[in-house]
Amino acid sequence: MRVAMIGTGYVGLVSGTCFSDFGHDVTCVDTDIAKIERLKAGIMPIFEPGLDDLVARNVAGGRLHFTTDLPAAVAHADVVFIAVGTPSRRGDGHADLSYVHAAAREIARAAKGFTVVVTKSTVPVGTGADLEAIIREDVPEADIAVVSNPEFLREGAAIEDFKRPDRIVVGTDDPRAREVMAALYRPLSLNAAPLLFTERANAELIKYASNAFLAMKITFINEMADLCEKVGGDVQEVARGIGLDRRIGPKFLHAGPGYGGSCFPKDTLALARTAQEAGTPLRLIETVTTLNETRKAAMGRRVLEALSVPPRGATVAVLGLTFKPNTDDMRDSPAINIVQSLIDRGVKIRAYDPVGMEEARKVLPEGIHYASGAYECAEGADALVIVTEWDAFRALDLDRLKAQLRSPIVVDLRNIYPPEDLISRGFTYVGIGRGD
Ligand code: UGA
Repeated sequence: MRVAMIGTGYVGLVSGTCFSDFGHDVTCVDTDIAKIERLKAGIMPIFEPGLDDLVARNVAGGRLHFTTDLPAAVAHADVVFIAVGTPSRRGDGHADLSYVHAAAREIARAAKGFTVVVTKSTVPVGTGADLEAIIREDVPEADIAVVSNPEFLREGAAIEDFKRPDRIVVGTDDPRAREVMAALYRPLSLNAAPLLFTERANAELIKYASNAFLAMKITFINEMADLCEKVGGDVQEVARGIGLDRRIGPKFLHAGPGYGGSCFPKDTLALARTAQEAGTPLRLIETVTTLNETRKAAMGRRVLEALSVPPRGATVAVLGLTFKPNTDDMRDSPAINIVQSLIDRGVKIRAYDPVGMEEARKVLPEGIHYASGAYECAEGADALVIVTEWDAFRALDLDRLKAQLRSPIVVDLRNIYPPEDLISRGFTYVGIGRGD
């Protein structure tokens, strides 16, 4: 099957590469010439474990190509995926669909023969119908079916998620499109991944509802963590206890500094806007978005309260900057709020992240000392705060760490250390949801 993937961002690049690894012939298209040249040279625009090897293997196998020539890629394709960005529109929180619309118009003009156009980008309910109308208006004779096929991959585990998904959702009522999509995903359905065919609007809603539900689950356990702190509970134990109930499940119950990333904050906001406009507000999700923002702001205060010296002139070491491990993505990372609120109070920041420093420099305020490793980061600091749970931080030499710090205070916002390990070595330990 011949596939064109429009947009080589996270979703486009990973999905395109994985489709090629299943034997399909994939051309990834982007308007960014420099990015395409780098990809041709094997240089990845994002950090994703295993992606560079997978790209190299499929480029060498002649199944994966990169180009800026959209019309040529589309003309040869049976399936064209739209995987361009849908950022939050400034001001109203709606998804900005201008890139999606532009891509659809170009595809309509270039397509030859029956072509399935698939939205892979996260798009609000009704977008598929709008795209079909846009295409018909531009090219009335176009033989095209617009399908919704949302992506559920997580950054840092994207290849595994693509190859072993819990489900594949395909929204269409066009029998020809259904056949094409079934053929495209046949290699995956052999892994027993259920292929769920549904109406297009349902598929669009499933994507948002999934992300909103997961964001809600995290926010729920974060509130439970606050309660645990007040009443002497341990949120880790509570999460384990409730997670064993199969109706609840153990995943996405790790309390922390609030969710970040390029999806949950943006998608919850967009879904809430859609619902408001439909006259049926999602009050639960609106509350989730507010609580998460409040939480990120509260984390800076938690660090300030842990200090044994006045904030002005104090130094705090920050371990982990990205919104989660195994990515270099800084979008909506809790680290941004934490660092900013500390700097606002006159605190000096030393920071270290295993792969996110380059991205961090672009978004964090000036004047931060970027360290070469965790121990150097801790040097002379009045407290150390763990913001992202990179594996590299899970087994630090605690005695060495203590010797580096001016005051042995650890604020562990991901609960990666048993409190007693630190307390027994003379640290002051502040975790999340761990009451005395
Ligand atoms: C999320 C979804 O998990 C994917 O299924 C979806 O495809 C993707 O959004 C998307 O819409 O593209 P992602 O944002 O990459 O994936 O990362 P997650 O692993 O879901 O983490 C999101 C945030 O929640 C992170 O800040 C993470 O630290 C936080 N989190 C996650 C918690 O605080 N606790 C948890 O138990 C789980």
